[in-house]
Amino acid sequence: MRTAIVTGAGSGIGYATSVKLANKGITVIMGDIIKDIGEKAKEVESLSKSKVIGLTVDVSDWNSTKEFYEEALKILGIDHVDILVNNAGIIRDALFVKMTPEQWDQVIKVHLYGTFNMTKQVIEGMIKYNWGRIINMSSASWMGNIGQANYSAAKAGIIGFTKTLARELGKYNITVNALVPGFIDTPMTRSVPEKIRKIIIDRIPLGKIGSPEDVANLIAFLVSDEASYLTGDIIEVTGGLTL
Ligand code: NAI
Repeated sequence: MRTAIVTGAGSGIGYATSVKLANKGITVIMGDIIKDIGEKAKEVESLSKSKVIGLTVDVSDWNSTKEFYEEALKILGIDHVDILVNNAGIIRDALFVKMTPEQWDQVIKVHLYGTFNMTKQVIEGMIKYNWGRIINMSSASWMGNIGQANYSAAKAGIIGFTKTLARELGKYNITVNALVPGFIDTPMTRSVPEKIRKIIIDRIPLGKIGSPEDVANLIAFLVSDEASYLTGDIIEVTGGLTL
């Protein structure tokens, strides 16, 4: 039986992914900065037949990811995890001329340092067992988006990181892929003003906002044995938004 870490699992895409993976019989370790992630994990466990635990972690902090990983292994009595979904994310939007160093730092730290920190924790275990699946969450904003210099830079960085790791880790049977969601209905996008939401949705050929489950379904495929020949890929789930 496989074990997965999902970061940013308390909300939106991370929560839907935890539900989906748990329903596929995967043991899920839900990590999130929110304090009640343990409660969320109980909720997810009750919706599936798998073991699900939730632990608080700040992915941007090296020591926090180290303690999180060690604690999770101890609780579950295991020595590695097979699957990592680097999903935790934040936005701190502002036009570049108004963007503060703090807004820059926070976004770079959660996305880029977060992805680095968590991947470092799991990687030796995956190499030891010669099997691994790493999914990194990029965004359609990686191509540039007004008001998101920090977020776009981080999400473009995640693509370079993904492709490099795919090259380095293929020989260990570890696949590393990045997802590019478009406009997905989560708390992150609910803060977008209604007028802008409408403009974005009008640009989506499928005519509607995506659901967290639309992304979770793709993740469930990518972590499966059926996806064993995909690595270094950047896979869009946008309803055609980026066409
Ligand atoms: P969300 O806001 O619903 O969930 C993000 C989760 O990350 C929250 O539970 C939050 O507490 C957690 N988090 C934030 N900082 C953290 C930290 N330092 N350590 C651990 N956990 C932390 O957002 P959503 O939409 O589910 O986003 C998930 C991922 O998908 C993010 O990486 C986001 O950038 C990406 N994405 C989302 C899109 C969308 O349209 N919603 C589009 C493209 C990418």
